This record gives sequence, C-alpha cells and structure tokens, in this order.
Amino acid sequence: MKKLVIATNNTHKLEEIRAILGNQIELLSLKDIHCEVDIPEDSDTLEGNAIQKAQYIYDNYGLDCFADDTGLEVEALNGAPGVFTARFGVMNGYGTSHDADANTACLLDQLKNADNRKCRFRTAIALILNGETHLFEGIANGEITTEKRGDGGFGYDPVFAPEGYDGKTFAELGVDVKNQVSHRARAVAKLCEFLLK
Ligand code: IMP
Repeated sequence: MKKLVIATNNTHKLEEIRAILGNQIELLSLKDIHCEVDIPEDSDTLEGNAIQKAQYIYDNYGLDCFADDTGLEVEALNGAPGVFTARFGVMNGYGTSHDADANTACLLDQLKNADNRKCRFRTAIALILNGETHLFEGIANGEITTEKRGDGGFGYDPVFAPEGYDGKTFAELGVDVKNQVSHRARAVAKLCEFLLK
C-alpha cells in the first residue's frame, strides 16, 4: 500500500480525506511522522501555500506528501476572502485567528445587504511525489445563507449551501453528502485518480 503524508493535523480534514481514499492509500498525518512545527504558509495564492507546505515535508522528512489549501471566493466581495479565508474574521476585527464563529459572523455581516450571495469553495492540492510537484483543483459552487444552519462539518459549513441541495448547508447535509460534492472531495478525487493510475 502506498504511504503518503498529508500535511495537516486537522482531524476533520483527515477523516474526510481518509473516507474518500478508502483503504487504497495509507495516509499519515503530521502527528504520525512526529512533525510538530507550524509549517509556514505565507503565499498569496492557494496553490503557493499548498506547495509550500508539501515541499516543507518533502525537504525535511524525505517523504512523499500532499498538502491542501482552501479558500472561499464570494462574488459580491470580488473573490474575497480567498487566500485569507482562515483569517477573515480577525482581519476585520472579529474574534481570534482561525475562529469559525468569528469568520462566519464577519461574512454574514459583510453580505447583510447583498442580493448576490453566489460563491465557491476552491481547494488546491499540491502533491510532491519523488521530488516532482503536481497540482489538483476542486471547486464547489454554492451560496452563502442568511443565517447559520446545521451542526455538522466545520469552518464555514453552517453558512455554505452547495448548488443542487435546496438551500441546505454543508452542516445540515452531513459528511456523507459533503464527501461526494465538496471542493476537497473533488480535488482529492483527482489526486487519487492520478496516484492510482
Ligand atoms: P484550510 O486551507 O483547510 O486551512 O482552510 C482555510 C479556511 O477555510 C479555514 O477557515 C477553514 O475553516 C475553511 N474551510 C476549509 N475547508 C472547509 C470546508 O470544507 N468547509 C467549511 N470551511 C472550510
């Protein structure tokens, strides 16, 4: 079985990606390889951040690795928060960094008077395999709801309603549906197709 490091310790993300990969590839987290460093991600693009993280593991541990970076791109905000999605709240005076409640409160406030609530989640995955870099992209189109709904998922899931699900949010739809249609699922599917071919 192929072994591959995923440059994250986010358990939600690990579970989601493990569920998509099934038992075809053994996925190791940063904890599994005893990496406790806060890997820098200071690029101005999702792709740049993903490459930066994967390259760090490859360079320091000599292991094949992939990393992802996700951004929420909102039409009415000209594509923001994009690469700043994790810090959107704190950058605008809401809560602390990587705080999902602050991020969603900030987003709902900024869209308070917006008729156009269209947006997309975009995931970039960088895979470093035998020293070579490969990029994969996954997109989920949807709309930002006017209030938070649902208990599942993480991050912006309670305010993101994917296209084709009657306005239900990812947090309401649950992990099984999300894993079929999410930005990350689509990017991971492309990654798997590449790895297994
Ligand atoms: P990261 O690239 O996975 O670290 O995510 C960047 C930001 O997007 C963080 O604020 C996450 O909470 C948010 N995010 C990433 N993926 C999802 C998702 O599937 N649903 C909701 N929020 C997400």
